[in-house]
Amino acid sequence: MDTPSRREFLRKAALTGAAAPFIPGLLQPASAAGRAPAALSKVRLGFIGVGSRGRSHVQQALYRDDVEITAICDVDPEAISRTNAMIQKAGRKPPVAYTKGNEAFLEMLKRDDMDGVVIATPWEWHTPMAVATMKAGKYAGLEVSATVTLKESWDLVNTFEKTGSHCMILENVCYRRDVMAVLNMIRQGLFGEMTYAHCGYEHDLRDIKFNDGKKYAGGGVEFGAKGYAEARWRTQHSVDRNGDLYPTHGLGPVAHWLNINRGNRFLHLTSMATKSRGLHKYVVDHGGPNHPNAKVNFKLGDIVTTMIQCANGENIVIMHDTNSPRPYSLGFRAQGTQGLWMDDGDTIYLEGVSPKPHQWEPFAPYQEKYDHPLWKQHARSAENAGHGGIDFFVLRAFIESIKAQVAPPIDVYDAAAWSAISPLSEQSIAQGSKPVEVPDFTRGKWKNNPPIFGLNEVY
Ligand SMILES: NC(=O)c1ccc[n+]([C@@H]2O[C@H](COP(=O)([O-])OP(=O)(O)OC[C@H]3O[C@@H](n4cnc5c(N)ncnc54)[C@H](O)[C@@H]3O)[C@@H](O)[C@H]2O)c1
Repeated sequence: MDTPSRREFLRKAALTGAAAPFIPGLLQPASAAGRAPAALSKVRLGFIGVGSRGRSHVQQALYRDDVEITAICDVDPEAISRTNAMIQKAGRKPPVAYTKGNEAFLEMLKRDDMDGVVIATPWEWHTPMAVATMKAGKYAGLEVSATVTLKESWDLVNTFEKTGSHCMILENVCYRRDVMAVLNMIRQGLFGEMTYAHCGYEHDLRDIKFNDGKKYAGGGVEFGAKGYAEARWRTQHSVDRNGDLYPTHGLGPVAHWLNINRGNRFLHLTSMATKSRGLHKYVVDHGGPNHPNAKVNFKLGDIVTTMIQCANGENIVIMHDTNSPRPYSLGFRAQGTQGLWMDDGDTIYLEGVSPKPHQWEPFAPYQEKYDHPLWKQHARSAENAGHGGIDFFVLRAFIESIKAQVAPPIDVYDAAAWSAISPLSEQSIAQGSKPVEVPDFTRGKWKNNPPIFGLNEVY
């Protein structure tokens, strides 16, 4: 999917050879990560995209004394004024605002008072903005999914390898308390040898609006120019694309469980999509059969199922289910030769540990016993953060990585590989569910890269 303004930006960037000044070798590549002597006591952040998600990151940043917000950028004046109001309420210095057009972020990136940039814009802007941020020598903190196309995944990797500037995909679900306890248990061998993981994004988004409580009529029926917040851009992806459009909330935790890019990797996948009914039905039910959008042909199947084969022999199943009436679930399941945990029902069974064979037991006692040290240490600070505290942890990891001047715990290779599942699933579905190879974005480094996520005080 490509918008005219993004196309124009990419065309100009190609003509000038670079979207922003190129500063080689400013930071060490991930392989050389270690606490650098020039650790920072304060971090200066810029924000590109201060809509619903961007403002939630701004709020987290405002809770911290070691963060200064020096600049913000958004094409929507309302988003800028709401962000400025938050910053003023917190008694902080007003940031410089960049608002003039889709490429205003390039001007912002020329500033030398930013150590990192949080990017929370529509998906199609993520990679151009992260590439420009890395070229400007700043840490890029990129919302999910990081990329829309395979080429974009390679653009992220190639830019990191050329510039040495880090890019972290801000996948907050990696920090969910239960999936981190499960990670702890997997690392301690309680599940035996891992064989299988199940996950997904199963979230009824038909009434898409995410409007911070502001009253808005027409969610799910109106989209594009007449929509509000995510409906302005996200629904169009469901018109144009048939694949798993949002794989990383599920895949992030699973990738850590299975050491993807760090001893293991995705080899190939196959995807299948059901017919597309949910969005059309929603428009007809809420806008009437004569609403102009009742004529829209939505390409996205209601439920998309993707299966991934991993190099170490595990299988992953990912669900994408955003246009059906259903309660929210990320549908996690972690399974090994000794047993399994399932998110829905929060139940566990471990052979030789669970009291009765063939019977589930509640996960709560395991959660307590294997609670991840990061959660034990920071649970109170996470109390005010969104999505049950995980938003605190993900921004913290980005900020602490900048402060320590080290590679982030979720790096550019993760951003590239996890996000690539979207275009690859589109390819597979378009070819009748044919298996498609997942590129090795690490170019072989996965064999020796050690796991780092959740393993030290920075991460
Ligand atoms: N990790 C999570 O839990 C989570 C939750 C919600 C959204 N997200 C992700 O965050 C991103 C933003 O989502 P959102 O809900 O905030 O959407 P949104 O529509 O509310 O905000 C996007 C903002 O980007 C601005 N924008 C668009 N083009 C721009 C440009 N060229 N330059 C500067 N600003 C521009 C828009 O004006 C808008 O304010 C998406 O990638 C979404 O998938 C992640």
